[in-house]
Parts: sequence; structure tokens; C-alpha cells
Amino acid sequence: MSRHVLALDQGTSSSRSIVFDEAGRVVALAQREFRQHYPQPGWVEHDPEEIWQSQLATAREAIAQAGLTARDIAAIGITNQRETTVVWNRRTGQPVCNAIVWQDRRGEPLCARLRADGLEETVRRSTGLVIDPYFSATKIRWILDHVNGAHLAAAQGELAFGTVDSWLIWKLTGGRVHATDVSNASRTMLYDIRHDVWDHELLAALHVPDSLLPQVLPSSHAYGETEPGLFGTPIAIAGVAGDQQAALFGQACFEPGLAKNTYGTGCFMLMHTGERFERSSNGLVSTAAARCGAAREYAMEGSVFIGGAVVQWLRDGLQAIRASGEVQALAESVPDAGGVMFVPAFTGLGAPYWNADARGTIVGLTRGSTVAHIARAALESIAFQSAALLQAMARDAATQGGRPLSELRVDGGACVNDLLMQFQADLLGIPVVRPQVTETTALGAAYLAGLGVGVWRDRAEIAALWQAERRFLPTLARERADELMARWERAVRQTVAE
Ligand code: G3P
Repeated sequence: MSRHVLALDQGTSSSRSIVFDEAGRVVALAQREFRQHYPQPGWVEHDPEEIWQSQLATAREAIAQAGLTARDIAAIGITNQRETTVVWNRRTGQPVCNAIVWQDRRGEPLCARLRADGLEETVRRSTGLVIDPYFSATKIRWILDHVNGAHLAAAQGELAFGTVDSWLIWKLTGGRVHATDVSNASRTMLYDIRHDVWDHELLAALHVPDSLLPQVLPSSHAYGETEPGLFGTPIAIAGVAGDQQAALFGQACFEPGLAKNTYGTGCFMLMHTGERFERSSNGLVSTAAARCGAAREYAMEGSVFIGGAVVQWLRDGLQAIRASGEVQALAESVPDAGGVMFVPAFTGLGAPYWNADARGTIVGLTRGSTVAHIARAALESIAFQSAALLQAMARDAATQGGRPLSELRVDGGACVNDLLMQFQADLLGIPVVRPQVTETTALGAAYLAGLGVGVWRDRAEIAALWQAERRFLPTLARERADELMARWERAVRQTVAE
């Protein structure tokens, strides 16, 4: 039997495909960027066809690069940018418009209406989320309201909605399967994660017909087989999870209290909370963790909208660096940020603040401040935002009788930055642990698929494969860390828009 698994990692800025071997090692990786569309301030769109074509191309490239054929691939695991919303015609398979991306804020007026209608508590109790345009619900509503004929077509059952995983499953199976997994469904703001059903009260409040919705399945499950023509022979699709839940799985965070932070475009910190649906009193959301069998599993999540993207702004907006890789040297050219504090609230603030109107702010500038201080403050802002999430998690754990976090596992592009990881450990006061394989999102999807077809036996086997590459230990005095966090919170309070 073949022991290789292909992970499709469809992210916000690129489509990637990775072939893993049975030791969880990367055998081949292919990546393609695709276009971002910004039709209006605050709007972000992707072309679903481009998503599909770039994903398919990288899948083929990765298999070829590994020197394999489709026959050598035991299964495919899919992981994806979450919340991003695609609506397509079931008959033609054509999207009715561009995908509305998770970062897109156009649903805010509708969210304000839902809040005014007193739905906040219903949403929180059922979906674990806060009312925010980040999630899929108001994006679906927007499409039905603004695309010509969409209302009628939806009412007649002609349309299908899906997050990007569903769209890819549909395309891969030639339109035979319309499904999603529980971790992706939990990001729609329409799914009741306590009972595992679509929430009819919320569907009615948003006028979203049932006929649009995909079937919700476990994350490790036989979803179907790819069309024979795509790879030469059919491959089983056996794992599906939203990228952050996949990363939690790839980091082997299977026990309550184990947490990971992914440093990508944004930062996403997830802590496994076991089979209990815990509600945060400190601005975090509850979400479904990737699921292998019938048992429900949950995580607490904090999402920061601008993480590594602040480095892109230094490059493209401020033009302080020519390439992202230059940021560490520039930041290290000064001993500290010189009192400069940078809150990159470019698209509002996510957890734990949830302020859609906040805008970016730099405070503490003096005549001695240089672009190097701003670069250092920009890097530090990634750690400050993540530390605020961890503090919120710790406060929740303290009131819910949970254990405080003992370490944080890290992954994502920016975790290679040692300066950032050390500062993160200093702020948190706990070790920050970087694993040997930092492609944990794709690895999580591969594990979910491989478990389904017998490449891996169980989670214990997967947990044994996880290995630390480096532990960053805190070196800063706690009083100094507390002082810095207090300054950060003061700067956050200054981000409110005019
Ligand atoms: O919730 C959004 C998240 O899933 C996007 O992740 O890695 O594509 O920026 P990423």
C-alpha cells in the first residue's frame, strides 16, 4: 500500500500542495500565488476558478516533483482559508460571483442589524462566535442580495454555498459531492456546534435557504474520489479541515490545554479544550476542532487580522524594506523599539478587542525614532497581539478551572524569525516551541486523511512523530513584561477611528 499523502493547502495568498511520507516529512512542495481583488476599501475577493486552477496545478506539480504518480498517493487531505465564501450554480458549476474573502468587511452593516436585533447571545450560544463580518453568514447574504437573479435561483435550489474546502471537493469530484467538515462549518456563523446541525433560527434571521448548504462531515472521513481524468487515476479524499484547526492537529495538540499559534497573514491561536464546549468571557471564540470520529471536540480561538501582513506593509506601504526577509536585520539594527509602539489595526481589530472601526496607530515617536525602530515595533506588534490572546485564554482558564498554558507551539511563515519568537516568549513568560516540521497546516490535513486510510494508526502515533526544533525560553523580568503589555493596551485604546 502506498504510504504517501497529498495535502492541498489553499491559503489566502497562495495555493500550495505538499506530498508527505509516512514519517510526516515533506517530500515535495509546489506553490502558486493568485490574484487578490480589492474592488472597494475594506473589500477583498478571489476568483474561485483561479483558486481551483492554481490548486490543481500545484497538486499535479507536487506529485510529479516527488517522482510519484496518483497510484502512489494513499489519500488527499484538504485544508483551506476559512470563512471565505463561494456560491455557485449546481447545474453549470459556475460561481455566481467572486469569492468574498474572510478579511472582507462589507457585512458590517448587516452585523450591526443583527446585534441591534439582539442576536448576539443566540450566535454565541449556538455557534461559539461573535457577530462579525469575518464569518461567512453575512457574506452569503450579501451575495444573495446583490447578484442578479441569485434570490430566485437560491429559492429554487439551484445554488450551492461552500467555504473553499467545499468548492475544491466539488471540483475534485466533478460535482458529485457537496460537503464540508465540521471545523469549516463552525466558521460560518450558521452552524450549531453544540448539536452538530445547521442553526435554523440563524438561517431564518439571515434568509439563507437550507438548499444552499453542504453536508457536514467529520474531518477524517471518506469524502469521495477525485475524477479519474484529473490525476490519471482516482484518489480518495479522506481528510478536510479549516487551516487553523488543521494546524492544531498537525501540532499534535490533542489534549485540553495544548495550544498553537500560527504566524501567517494574520495570527491564529487555538487551544484544545477537549470535549467540552467552553465559552470565553474574554473576547475569544469557541470553535469546532478537527474531528476524527463521533466525539465532539472543541477549541478556543483568538484571531488577529494583521500579523505577518504588517511586514508586507513595511515593504509596500512604507517602503522601508525591499523584501520581507530584510525585516529582521533592520529590526535588529537597534537594541529595542525606542519607546515606539505600533498597532497595525489596518482592518479593524479582531480578538480579543473586536473593533471593526479601529485603524492603525504608531505612538511614542521622538526625534530619535528611525525607520528601524518602526520596523522593530512592527515585528513586536505581532507578539503583543498574540500575547493579548494568550492572556485572554489564561483568564478564561482561571475562571473555568482549567490549567494555565505551560508552553506555546508555533508555526507559520514568521515563526522562522528568532527575534520575534524570543520576544514572544519574553512577553508570555512561557516557552515558545518551534517544531521540526513547520508546515503543520498541511501536515494536519495529511494526518487527517492518512488516519482514514490507515497510513497512520492513531493519534498516539502522530503525537510521537511531533518533534521540537527549538525552545525559546523567557528571559525578561515579569514586571518588565507587564509594563510592556500595559503600554500596548494604552496604544490599542488610541486606535479608535475619527
Ligand atoms: O480565518 C482565516 C484563516 O483561515 C486564514 O488563514 O493562513 O490563509 O491567512 P491564512
